[in-house]
Amino acid sequence: MSKFGIAIMAAGKGTRLKSKHPKVLHRIGGKPLLGHVIAAAAKIVPPTDIYAIVGHEAQRVRETVQETGVNFVLQPEQRGTGHAIMCAREALSSYDHFLVLSGDVPLIRPETIARLRDVHLDRGAAMTILTAVPSDPTGYGRIVRKDGTDEVEAIVEHKAATSEQRAIREINSGIYAFSVQALFSRIDKLTTDNPHGEFYLTDMAAILKQDGQKVVALAAAEVNEVLGVNTRAELAELDAYLRAEKCRELMAAGVTIFRPDTCVIDSDVTAAPDTVIEPFVQLLGKTTVGSDCTVRSFSVIENCAIGDGVLVQNGCIMRDSRVEARAVLGPYSHIRPASEICEGAHVGNFVELKKTRLGRGSKANHLTYLGDAVIGEAVNVGAGTITCNYDGKHKHQTVIEDGAFIGSDSTLVAPVRVGRDSYVGAASCITEDVPGDSLALGRSRQVVKEGWARKKRNGS
Ligand code: UD1
Ligand code: CA
Repeated sequence: MSKFGIAIMAAGKGTRLKSKHPKVLHRIGGKPLLGHVIAAAAKIVPPTDIYAIVGHEAQRVRETVQETGVNFVLQPEQRGTGHAIMCAREALSSYDHFLVLSGDVPLIRPETIARLRDVHLDRGAAMTILTAVPSDPTGYGRIVRKDGTDEVEAIVEHKAATSEQRAIREINSGIYAFSVQALFSRIDKLTTDNPHGEFYLTDMAAILKQDGQKVVALAAAEVNEVLGVNTRAELAELDAYLRAEKCRELMAAGVTIFRPDTCVIDSDVTAAPDTVIEPFVQLLGKTTVGSDCTVRSFSVIENCAIGDGVLVQNGCIMRDSRVEARAVLGPYSHIRPASEICEGAHVGNFVELKKTRLGRGSKANHLTYLGDAVIGEAVNVGAGTITCNYDGKHKHQTVIEDGAFIGSDSTLVAPVRVGRDSYVGAASCITEDVPGDSLALGRSRQVVKEGWARKKRNGS
């Protein structure tokens, strides 16, 4: 069997995006462009056979996709796509063939990559080019076919094309298969004789052809998967396409999404059947949503694990947290990282949790801040309760044991513990631990001055 590697060109700056960030780190579907390409490539060969060619902001690009386990090749100066592959010569020399993917063509499907590989081998080609016929070919390289065959004479870049060539609608996707030997024995023939003064990998088509090698075009089944991202407008288009696809995938799996065009759901999100997602919801990052949940409008949920039957009412903002089955949140709850809302617990409006565990069946329903707190089961946290977790330098923990009742408008000055089944009187400032089964009052006694108001009115 032939040995196949995959090179991903990701060294370019992306001038047309007018950005200080490298192009391949711009995101669609919540994931960097390069992340999508690597994910597709990794379905065809193991990550150890994938080589990302990096250059512009190489360190940042590496760090962002490091966890995928792919190799990196440095293209120290960006002198064109041909030069990028020259830089990968050594890394690829141990393979018989390799595929070239573009870091800015993110929707490519693994099935298509596999088909390109197979056709390349079957046809015994030196170069196989994945092509497509988009509605607007402006800007892309055009495929000059040998009349009536699948063989290619040349690829002509848009800028260098004659008006006749510009009328060709079949474009180069920037995705190819190459025979290692055929390519690298001739790659030195590339020149910088073009409008950009770059080494164009596309020129290899004519070079190989003129040397009697076979250069084949394979048309992609689905034009969307070869669309490139060069501008912000294209970034938005591909993002919208990907998210629409994501909604379709979730709906096909039994999730109800009303007005999917208004929802922003990242590629890696999962949701189980009979969950209902209302308009204008964002589900981001690695969020997972169980079955029979309702996520109401204007909630933004990032990297959260949500159990079955959870109700997230309108306007909740949640990050890096866990919510167990049948919990109820919102409207307008703010769940900050490392929080855990246990089964059947309630978090109400204008309640903020940070690094807090709210035990099973416990409730914090109104206007409350709970930070660095461990709260047991069946606890009632009254309206306006505040954990004072920060002393100006350090964070401290508040522990509220099972069954405790915290009266409204209490402040709990951490570190502090309220024991099992105890009561804290409303408006208390609790600075010392409260043992179990007690009542703690930390407030001044009420004073009533009878007749005071009447005297004031009468001016005496
Ligand atoms: C390229 C093709 C064009 C094709 C189009 C498809 C060339 C000369 N042209 O044009 O025929 O229709 O893709 O999308 O190849 N890169 C490097 N190093 C470099 C330059 C680029 O790694 O020195 C990377 C970029 O990061 C990008 C990819 O190669 O991921 C393509 O480069 P780009 O400049 O976007 O090429 P296009 O002009 O789109
Ligand atoms: Ca491009």
